[in-house]
Amino acid sequence: MNYHSNIGRHTAVVGLQWGDEGKGKIVDVLTAEHDVIVRYNGGANAGHTVVVEGQRYALHLIPSGILYPHKMCVIGNGVVVDPERLLEEIDSLRSRSIAVGDNLRISDRAHVVMPYHKEQDAALEDYLASTTANASGSLAIGTTRRGIGPAYADKVCRSTAIRMGDLLDPAYLRERLRVICKLRTNELRAMGVSTAPLDADALAERFGALGVRLRPHIVDSVYELHGAAALGRTILFEGANACLLDIDHGTYPYVTSSNCSTAGIHSGTGIPGSTIGRVLGIMKAYSTRVGAGPFPTELNNEIGSTIRERGREYGTTTGRPRRCGWLDLVAVKYSAMVCGATGIACTLFDVLSGFDELRICTKYRLADGSLSDRFIPDARRLEGASPVYETFDGWSESVAEAGSRSALPDAAKRYLARIEEVVGIPIEMVGIGPERSQTLVAQ
Ligand code: IMP
Repeated sequence: MNYHSNIGRHTAVVGLQWGDEGKGKIVDVLTAEHDVIVRYNGGANAGHTVVVEGQRYALHLIPSGILYPHKMCVIGNGVVVDPERLLEEIDSLRSRSIAVGDNLRISDRAHVVMPYHKEQDAALEDYLASTTANASGSLAIGTTRRGIGPAYADKVCRSTAIRMGDLLDPAYLRERLRVICKLRTNELRAMGVSTAPLDADALAERFGALGVRLRPHIVDSVYELHGAAALGRTILFEGANACLLDIDHGTYPYVTSSNCSTAGIHSGTGIPGSTIGRVLGIMKAYSTRVGAGPFPTELNNEIGSTIRERGREYGTTTGRPRRCGWLDLVAVKYSAMVCGATGIACTLFDVLSGFDELRICTKYRLADGSLSDRFIPDARRLEGASPVYETFDGWSESVAEAGSRSALPDAAKRYLARIEEVVGIPIEMVGIGPERSQTLVAQ
């Protein structure tokens, strides 16, 4: 069996909004049907929460599949890895009796997030927040300050990058860091950070030691993945962040620094897109966003606050309150198109119980007064679009105990049916609570 015989066998899970769609839980449900679970983009900016038998696990770098025994979990070459956070995550899982050993593989080509990347990230955000504040906000992106942008910038820059494989070669690591630290010290100072000169030798020692601990996991993940697929194993690709945060297809520049749409899978793992037959797009039953950037259906009112409290809309990674709003199907339909979604998982549906009425945005009114059903993946132009809503009756009943989609209140069924009609693909799963078991799967 080679890649050619694997056409259409694998599955991808990808967020269709601005992140935090509950992908971790859906990946967890799908893991049962797959052998290998792979992260292809992003880093510790992601936060995937999974609740299993009342136990809550918040994962940032390790694929959610780790919670299942006997599944292979892979951190692909497209991910930027903060090795200290990764080891914290490994230790925390082990302390809760989750086995992490041969079941976790990390690409030797994944890039390393170094401490100076986090300093650069914070310094740039602070600089932008203080120097560019004006009536329309600032140029600061509201990043997670996890060093994601600077690490990807070094990847593209090449000469200043460190990859996971480099941690295994102390002399090479030290040599590179000596040059990088000189440059970085100057750059940080130019951004107003009063830093002592970065100590290349100390960093080389610290990260070399991390390399020693991580050595058993560091592999050529491209051959590992193709090898597993050749043995007939099926792969589940776990997208982090989400399509509207994609560096190419999102609301640029208020995006993250990786291809978090399905566009990142091939480059971030070395597995061709033609092997993916199923793309499950994850969307919340409403919309949220963390950090800066346009959000046409945002509700800066009591309804927004109610959604935030009911949906516990606070960041897994940073604890920041999320901005909340009505469901924007113009955005979801665009993401489904870009990602090639074949089906939808609609999560946090239980949060919508108890509203008198609900709204769904199906068009935008543009600055010139015209109507459009096209998303605008450009922050400046999207600011000028206002949502045009369809209004739906709400339902008062809790749906958390519903055994199937047909058991949902009629108004809830109409809401879901309209999503399918507008986006043009079926809803395959509906999330009605945080537990693994609270997922309605279409028969
Ligand atoms: P960065 O990825 O830390 O550079 O942040 C860039 C933007 O993406 C910020 O607005 C973050 O809040 C947002 N972001 C990054 N990762 C996630 C995520 O997993 N969920 C939601 N927002 C995210």
